[in-house]
Amino acid sequence: MEKVVLITGASSGIGKETAKLFQAKNWRVAATMRSPEKAADMKKIVDLRLIRLDVTEPESIRSAFAETLEHFGRIDAVVNNAGYGLLGPFEAASDEQIRRQFETNVFGLMAVCREAIPIFRKQKRGVIVNISSISGLAALPFSSLYAASKFAVEGFSESLAYELEPFGIRVKLIEPGPIKTDFYTRSEEIARDENLHVYEERFEKFLDFMNKGGTDAPDGGIVAEAIWNAVTDGTKKLRYGVNTKGLPMLKRWMPESVFRPLARKIFLK
Ligand SMILES: NC(=O)c1ccc[n+]([C@@H]2O[C@H](COP(=O)([O-])OP(=O)(O)OC[C@H]3O[C@@H](n4cnc5c(N)ncnc54)[C@H](OP(=O)(O)O)[C@@H]3O)[C@@H](O)[C@H]2O)c1
Repeated sequence: MEKVVLITGASSGIGKETAKLFQAKNWRVAATMRSPEKAADMKKIVDLRLIRLDVTEPESIRSAFAETLEHFGRIDAVVNNAGYGLLGPFEAASDEQIRRQFETNVFGLMAVCREAIPIFRKQKRGVIVNISSISGLAALPFSSLYAASKFAVEGFSESLAYELEPFGIRVKLIEPGPIKTDFYTRSEEIARDENLHVYEERFEKFLDFMNKGGTDAPDGGIVAEAIWNAVTDGTKKLRYGVNTKGLPMLKRWMPESVFRPLARKIFLK
């Protein structure tokens, strides 16, 4: 019997590439997204079921899992991919923007885990893949809220991995560097406040650096490959870096007094 993966945020970028890769590897795919009606091109793929799921709506998570079980009869892996980046000076972000960043990247991911864990625990197997970022390991400037959300995903997943191991459930963290997706365009949210010109020059430089990085980057296919490895390698390995450009290694091994001036030079040049 073919195995089944449920992916959140499968409408574009990494989620969409992951859905296509698992389908090509003969898995059944529950490609969940906020607006399945817009994914006309994906509808043509056989064995790929488009299901509505907004990670900020608990009822839609419950019904997406129920529909997946009803249609495919099982779930073997869940990929928590839905997320976006809120960039800008912290001071410029509204309460609503701060909350929405965490509702999506952190609480949404946790809510999906809460739905998956009892199913996996009862069947004594399952893989949970959480998409973090190099921003979950090293915080870039003007990314305080995005970095905080991904640091939260890191801590949450690291702890959960120990906790669920005895039940045959493996938890995995994928840590991509820049990847060319809608992350840098359609999905990118900017915190701006016209009274805060004091940040403008440095922020614009950083934004330019970020968006250029995203344009010159490899596409979501390489992250999909890492997700495939994480789900199928059968190991207890927790972290899978993708196109990290050595940043996590530098942060781990360099003294902070050397790393921070270097980072400042790179990110705010
Ligand atoms: N691209 C990078 O450089 C990079 C690097 C490190 C980590 N990541 C992480 O990779 C993940 C995927 O991003 P991406 O690069 O593939 O960007 P993307 O192309 O913009 O895809 C983001 C996906 O998340 C979905 N999403 C946003 N809010 C949602 C919600 N409330 N409920 C359900 N789905 C929601 C979007 O759905 P809609 O189509 O409805 O908007 C879209 O499908 C994110 O977690 C991101 O933080 C990306």
